[in-house]
Amino acid sequence: MASNVPEKYKTLIKNNKRIDGRKLDELRPVKIEVGVVPSADGSAYIEIGNTKVLVAVHGPKEMFPRHMINEDRAVLNVRYAMLPFSTSERVRPGPSRRSNEISKVTRHALESVIFLEEFPAMGIDLTLDIIQADAGTRATAITAASVALAHAGIPMKGLVAATAIGKINDKLAVDLNGPEDNFGQTDMPIAMISTNKNITLLQMDGDFTKEEFKTSLEMAKKAIDPLFEAQKAALQKYYE
Ligand code: CDP
Repeated sequence: MASNVPEKYKTLIKNNKRIDGRKLDELRPVKIEVGVVPSADGSAYIEIGNTKVLVAVHGPKEMFPRHMINEDRAVLNVRYAMLPFSTSERVRPGPSRRSNEISKVTRHALESVIFLEEFPAMGIDLTLDIIQADAGTRATAITAASVALAHAGIPMKGLVAATAIGKINDKLAVDLNGPEDNFGQTDMPIAMISTNKNITLLQMDGDFTKEEFKTSLEMAKKAIDPLFEAQKAALQKYYE
């Protein structure tokens, strides 16, 4: 836990309720909208609690820069960016170590489900703009990204959704919000494929015992179902 925790965030769980009233295994409210950027080939807007992300897909299209071409399959280019106004402290525009890392892990989390080999020598650009950040931005962006890819008509083996399991006040909790992430002990973002729940991303900031790790995987498997439902419902609603 951070050493200078404000008094109001010292107790993150009271009577099994969290500071925003949620139960330990409860996700924040989820809202997904498809087709919000008409100029893109695919797009999705997502809100998970106060975290808000806009995702746009361009492609499959001619690959640029040319030296990055893969003659056997499409290349997925991911650009994650926190907009300057997305946090209470202005974020400096342009790439950073953190945004490069998140772009890379997001690419890994998604490319195994995309039939990239159907588009040799082409590129698919995926833009993830964090409009408002209240923890879980990479998980939220990944959840919206597979919806935007589906909207772009890109063939995939399944959808990918993500959430985070954390440890706060020594208890495991699903989908941390900002103060829980900042002042809790552990944050483990995890992404899974809808069809088989294979894990495509797993990171950890902090630590878990072996038992806690096992339990958090089980919690993630359960918590992720409503996200898959929300993804499918958003796509269905768009095409109705
Ligand atoms: O967003 P995510 O949990 O995937 O990544 P993180 O690097 O663990 O960041 C956790 C949270 O810290 C973000 O979601 C933001 O709410 C906050 N943050 C911030 O306020 N300013 C930054 N420059 C980076 C992160």
